[in-house]
Amino acid sequence: MDNHFLAIKDFSRQQLQSLLVRAMVLKQEASQNKTHNLLQGKIVSLLFDKPSTRTRVSFESAVYRLGGQVSFMSSRESQLTRGEPLKDMARVMSRYVDAIVVRTFGQEIVEELARYSDVPVINALTDLYHPCQILSDIMTVIEKKGAPENLKIVWLGDGNNMANSWIEAASVMGFSLSIACPDGYEPDKDILEESQKRGTGVITLQNDPLAAVKDADVINVDVWASMGQEEQQKERMKVFQPYQLNNELLKHAKEDAVVLHCLPAHREEEITDEVLEGPQSVAFDQAENKMHIHKAILEQFVNNIQE
Ligand code: CP
Ligand code: NVA
Repeated sequence: MDNHFLAIKDFSRQQLQSLLVRAMVLKQEASQNKTHNLLQGKIVSLLFDKPSTRTRVSFESAVYRLGGQVSFMSSRESQLTRGEPLKDMARVMSRYVDAIVVRTFGQEIVEELARYSDVPVINALTDLYHPCQILSDIMTVIEKKGAPENLKIVWLGDGNNMANSWIEAASVMGFSLSIACPDGYEPDKDILEESQKRGTGVITLQNDPLAAVKDADVINVDVWASMGQEEQQKERMKVFQPYQLNNELLKHAKEDAVVLHCLPAHREEEITDEVLEGPQSVAFDQAENKMHIHKAILEQFVNNIQE
């Protein structure tokens, strides 16, 4: 297994499945109050350039629950702000810690850190990808609906970092994904094309939210303007309006469809309060699963377990 976790496409179906299975076991054990020392004596650095609630705290609690220690730093406080090269930072940090979890803007930043780091670098969201999140989302889908191969899974809205990671997951794990987004807001073209070539799962792209949602088992939504796109917020509110997941649209899905949102949610924008708080929403289980997935990822990468 590649010893950095930067993108879903870098892993095989079997490797992703083993992380999912391990996360489910760790969740089950947590419910029985079983304690672990899988990261005893290990230090995990969290280096965050963008805001975070869930990812930061779920990684922190994952490390502590496995017996390790966390060092958190916002890059605003680091010497990067004064021009220190990433390659120097990566080599220095490797001497201090056992893994570096990074949330930042460009994917090239995590790639550069990984190139020069002797310890695993884990992508906790870039403008291009959110790979850890997608594993917790798939774990939630499996818990609620069973194997993704047998489901109609929909991505509704912006073709953003979340959509790109869902596309790669569909291609590697061999399930189908129906994407509906407005013209000009499609997922990354290269990621889509490469995934369509790689995959056994069929990945379709269209503009019509109703056609995409029809008979869906799983519907994923996310904010219309991601972090770093705040100045486009107003324009996006108009363009994305037809993609709002409300009860009217949701009734075209299967009656027992589940709704996923990685959170934070903007109620009455991409999702209505009624749907997010309604019986089909699994967003809060999904948020919990981030912690269990992060435990599985950290255990595997910090301890360099080869699958
Ligand atoms: N879902 C997610 O990544 O949330 P945060 O931005 O709060 O970490
Ligand atoms: N697409 C969102 C996800 C937030 C968890 C963003 O990048 O802001």
